[in-house]
Amino acid sequence: MAEIGKDITKAKQLLEAGELVAIPTETVYGLAGNALDVTAVTKIFVAKNRPEFDPLIVHIADRAQVNVYAENIPELAQQLAERFWPGPLTLVLRRKNNIPDLVTSGLDTVGIRCPDHALTRELLQSLSFPLAAPSANPFGYVSPTTPAHVNDQLGDKLSYILDGGACEVGIESTIIGFENDAPVVFRMGGLSLEKIEAVVGKVHIATHSSSNPKAPGQLVSHYAPRKKVILGDVKNLLKDYAKEVSAVLSFKTNFNVPHQFILSPSGNVEEAAQRFFTALRDLDKLPVDVILAEQVPNVGLGRAINDRLHRASAA
Ligand code: TXA
Ligand code: MG
Repeated sequence: MAEIGKDITKAKQLLEAGELVAIPTETVYGLAGNALDVTAVTKIFVAKNRPEFDPLIVHIADRAQVNVYAENIPELAQQLAERFWPGPLTLVLRRKNNIPDLVTSGLDTVGIRCPDHALTRELLQSLSFPLAAPSANPFGYVSPTTPAHVNDQLGDKLSYILDGGACEVGIESTIIGFENDAPVVFRMGGLSLEKIEAVVGKVHIATHSSSNPKAPGQLVSHYAPRKKVILGDVKNLLKDYAKEVSAVLSFKTNFNVPHQFILSPSGNVEEAAQRFFTALRDLDKLPVDVILAEQVPNVGLGRAINDRLHRASAA
């Protein structure tokens, strides 16, 4: 098991020595290494069992650093960064040559984000390099939102978990790329479409791609617990699956069944997002055969939750 603590100096020293450290962000915990050190980056791919065609996000200390690692930044990208960084937004931009090929899987673009978490920003500010950090979970599984989640699955693969408490947003960043300088959403996430469109107008959404996905978050089966997830109308599903031992994942309704997780009894999609990955993990541990789940309202962060529910149920 990895050590869990709040020691920024220790995290800094490990990272400077080329080791991996799990870091808190407002979205999910990341498995971080020196983005400019190919050996450290290789360790990330190995620890996650992640295919090398899946590029990593580079985390920077503040907005201005984007110009160190990216060039030809579209005007709308500048506007989004100014409005939403630090925050749950990743911008896919033309990369400069100082970013190793392994980080971008050989693409000529790089995903960059300035995370909004006090501990991690302090850590980033103390380092002379940015941090490459995918979500700190084995490839394809549910992302971690607490230090214990990280320790459960990757505890033997890293030495230190920087403890920043439970993640406030709870769902991965929204990823936006640019085609002919127009924004395209590659992954729905912790920054809602409504907030994005209020700044840049209507955006194109390309979150599904079965062949050659730009972001593996676009793979149909991803973010999946090990148990079978069935998505639909829970009341009907409880009848259809009456012969099986089931657990229910609902938005706000109490179905009065022995195993259930209600995401937000008050019906708040932000709260539901914050608790969503914990819900999937907790339900995955129950002695049940199937997880019967319903969609949440398709507004705000509800879109990102529904996207992950669909992928989880496609496994
Ligand atoms: O909230 C988050 O984004 C978290 C925290 C730790 O920052 N990170 C995260 O990383 O979710 P990861 O590796 O699990 O997902 C990153 C996604 C991948 O699907 C990857 O393909 C996509 O970002 N991505 C990274 N660079 C890209 C690029 N140049 N073009 C297209 N997609 C890219
Ligand atoms: Mg991930």
